[in-house]
Amino acid sequence: MLVRNPLSPTTVGVPPGRRKRGYFIDAMVAFFAAAALTALYVSLVAWAQQPTLLPWAFAPLPVGAILPSGWILGEMQTMALGLAGHQYDFYKFVNESRWLQAPGTGGTDYSPLNEALPYWFNGLAPLAYLLDDARLKDQVHSAAGIVLDLQTKDGWIGPEIPSERNFWARAPFFFGLTQLAEANSTWEKPVIDALRKFMDLTNVMLRNDSQGHAVCAPGFKCFWGQTRVHDMIISIQWLLDNHPSDQDPLLWDNMNLFYDQSQYKWDEWYRPGVFQEVVKDPTTKNPAYPFLHGVNVGQGLKASAVIRRFNHNDSLVTSSMTAVELTFQHHGAPSGTILGDEIERDLAPHMGSELCTAVETGYSLAYLYHTLGTNYYADRAELVIYNAMPVMMTGDMWSHQYLDQPNGPWAVMNNKDHVHPDGPFLFTTAHRGAATTFGLEPQYPCCTVNHPQGYPKFVTHSWGLVDDTGLAHVLLSPSKVKTSLATIECDTAYPFDHTLRYTITSSRGLDLYLRVPSWHVSETSSLTFGDSTPAFLQPDPVTGMHHVRVPSGSTTLTYTLGARIRTEPRANNTVAVYYGSLLYALDVGQANTSSNPHAYNDAHGAGIADIPFPQARDYYIYNTTAWNIAIDPSTLEYHDGGSELPSPIFEYGAPPSYMTARGCEIEWALYLEATPGAVPENRTCVRESGRYRLIPYGSAKVHMSELPVVRL
Ligand SMILES: *[C@@H]1O[C@H](CO)[C@@H](O)[C@H](O)[C@H]1NC(C)=O
Ligand SMILES: *[C@@H]1O[C@H](CO)[C@@H](O)[C@H](O)[C@H]1NC(C)=O
Ligand SMILES: *[C@@H]1O[C@H](CO)[C@@H](O)[C@H](O)[C@H]1NC(C)=O
Ligand SMILES: *[C@@H]1O[C@H](CO)[C@@H](O)[C@H](O)[C@H]1NC(C)=O
Ligand SMILES: *[C@@H]1O[C@H](CO)[C@@H](O)[C@H](O)[C@H]1NC(C)=O
Ligand SMILES: *[C@@H]1O[C@H](CO)[C@@H](O)[C@H](O)[C@H]1NC(C)=O
Ligand SMILES: *[C@@H]1O[C@H](CO)[C@@H](O)[C@H](O)[C@H]1NC(C)=O
Ligand SMILES: *[C@@H]1O[C@H](CO)[C@@H](O)[C@H](O)[C@H]1NC(C)=O
Repeated sequence: MLVRNPLSPTTVGVPPGRRKRGYFIDAMVAFFAAAALTALYVSLVAWAQQPTLLPWAFAPLPVGAILPSGWILGEMQTMALGLAGHQYDFYKFVNESRWLQAPGTGGTDYSPLNEALPYWFNGLAPLAYLLDDARLKDQVHSAAGIVLDLQTKDGWIGPEIPSERNFWARAPFFFGLTQLAEANSTWEKPVIDALRKFMDLTNVMLRNDSQGHAVCAPGFKCFWGQTRVHDMIISIQWLLDNHPSDQDPLLWDNMNLFYDQSQYKWDEWYRPGVFQEVVKDPTTKNPAYPFLHGVNVGQGLKASAVIRRFNHNDSLVTSSMTAVELTFQHHGAPSGTILGDEIERDLAPHMGSELCTAVETGYSLAYLYHTLGTNYYADRAELVIYNAMPVMMTGDMWSHQYLDQPNGPWAVMNNKDHVHPDGPFLFTTAHRGAATTFGLEPQYPCCTVNHPQGYPKFVTHSWGLVDDTGLAHVLLSPSKVKTSLATIECDTAYPFDHTLRYTITSSRGLDLYLRVPSWHVSETSSLTFGDSTPAFLQPDPVTGMHHVRVPSGSTTLTYTLGARIRTEPRANNTVAVYYGSLLYALDVGQANTSSNPHAYNDAHGAGIADIPFPQARDYYIYNTTAWNIAIDPSTLEYHDGGSELPSPIFEYGAPPSYMTARGCEIEWALYLEATPGAVPENRTCVRESGRYRLIPYGSAKVHMSELPVVRL
């Protein structure tokens, strides 16, 4: 049972908010005024009362301070040459978005939520600057310029369709704006001015019967903005953190109003008796639907940490961990994403998971580590970005899936007209449709526009500041970071290899913190200064950070992480197999057919013939070897292929390392004639056993990753 039914038609009034503090300040001011103290004294008192945001465990660096290199640069360049980098040229929900038209003059979008352009912008602003790609920067500037020019006199940003102002899609647009302002100081003033004007209007709206927070387009449920209110609050906190001004009291009021007026509080959901471990009604009719929607959950993992920064409620530290633990224990995929055929249900390995869920989960986990500093979050941020996200895109990043399944040995159009027993809201291959095919906009366009944020946000969160003297390598990948403390290059093939080489130049020395993933093997892990003797690692038990003092001048460091094969038990006597941060999946071969891309609402039609980029195609990928394999985990062997990586790396056959295991085929029935069903209990080999190959999950576009255990 929920604490209160979130869908009950209660009116959202203006709650008392933080009146206590208001009264207190009023009383103080009255008292001192009466005592006729000087204006200076009064302002000193006001300063003492100034509320503050809690500091970060690892403060983020501005967009542009950290640049990708090595394999992840290759991936991001591929993205720029692929679908992400061309939507502004041809994709109607972006290039003809309502956001780019004067009010009432048309434009298009896939839903009245008007989120297509904002999602795209949130990913493209950092992508363009991290690559210093002139073409993409022009697109970002063009979109930002048009949208800011169209800001209404009273401050509203973006379309007002179909006549109601709704806050939700502003949140991802503002993420794009704040990233742009960090990356390019020319944009700082226009962005800040626009946000301030918007925040003045926001205050009037929220104080006038929750306008924009409660009202939605006809036929659209109103919860999206409310369940994602933390994303809006992050941009308010960005203003407070980086650009303090005399508007700050109003910004504080807005944070409190946004939070108080939201009927969906994530810390209340993750409680015994409220949270649903197995969801008996995985449909939109479930009153808890907003808390079960996969993308909402991915975004919501960071909610309590965002709220704690301003309400200082330390119980929310535990709430954050509980949220992440319960989510992954009961709805987590081996690849680090959240299972839910749009809606969470259980741990069945044929459950799908949206590409949007993977990128949002990655961002939330990175945010959680930066705010709270618990190693588990960073481990999981790497897991989802190195496995769940790349598996859903073709190597050239022109085509993507809407849903991936842990056990998905084919990604083909399903032509069977099943009336789905679990209701019409299931998107797996078991439902008539294209959800698991790779294409331009299979099933729904949201992941077409939302996927580009994945790598850029990972890279911008990969380092953090520690006080004024330290830099921390938070999410491990090849990168370059430049701050007033130091310039550091990290040369590595991580996570495909586990040696990281740092070249550091610092004029006054610095405290360097290197994150030690919790899967590391301590006996074979070490840190070496120049040519000196390797030293063992001493990671902090909470943050996982190993601290070293780096002297001024030039320093080289070699950081080696020991790894070994790990298996994690999954439901029904199966295992998932890992090496370092990579999940390994059974290689089932890979062949494909392809067609012109299909509109999401015409999956079975002829396809769209006139897209000016022939690279945009729909792919139907299938297995070329048996998928119904049980393995003996005691026979797993890791084959290290070295650190030479082709680009793009998340292409079938590209990563050099692999594993093998003895296994055999077992009898395994399909679910709804469409996809591997529940893992059978009977592990009798139906053919002679043999050696099977496992490859990094992100490269195995079709795969089996929850493998039945058999003793051979
Ligand atoms: C958007 O892209 C389409 C091609 O897909 C093109 O026909 C159209 O002219 C473009 N619109 C604008 C405003 O550039
Ligand atoms: C910053 O933005 C301005 C205005 O769009 C542009 O002219 C300039 O080239 C940008 N600077 C960089 C380094 O991209
Ligand atoms: C509140 O909103 C209503 C409806 O838009 C408007 O008529 C009214 O003037 C607003 N009140 C204030 C105080 O702004
Ligand atoms: C702090 O958060 C906890 C956890 O959600 C909650 O139970 C408690 O009521 C909150 N305290 C205050 C003062 O709001
Ligand atoms: C485990 O197997 C049982 C029996 O086939 C099945 O009902 C159940 O759904 C399976 N559990 C999962 C998480 O797949
Ligand atoms: C489809 O198959 C062709 C021919 O084998 C291959 O070159 C291409 O990479 C495949 N594409 C995908 C998306 O699997
Ligand atoms: C791929 O899977 C299908 C469906 O189970 C199976 O019939 C087929 O034999 C597999 N393909 C190959 C080449 O083994
Ligand atoms: C287990 O599967 C084997 C091979 O299909 C079959 O011969 C045997 O009868 C099954 N055992 C049980 C208990 O169902």
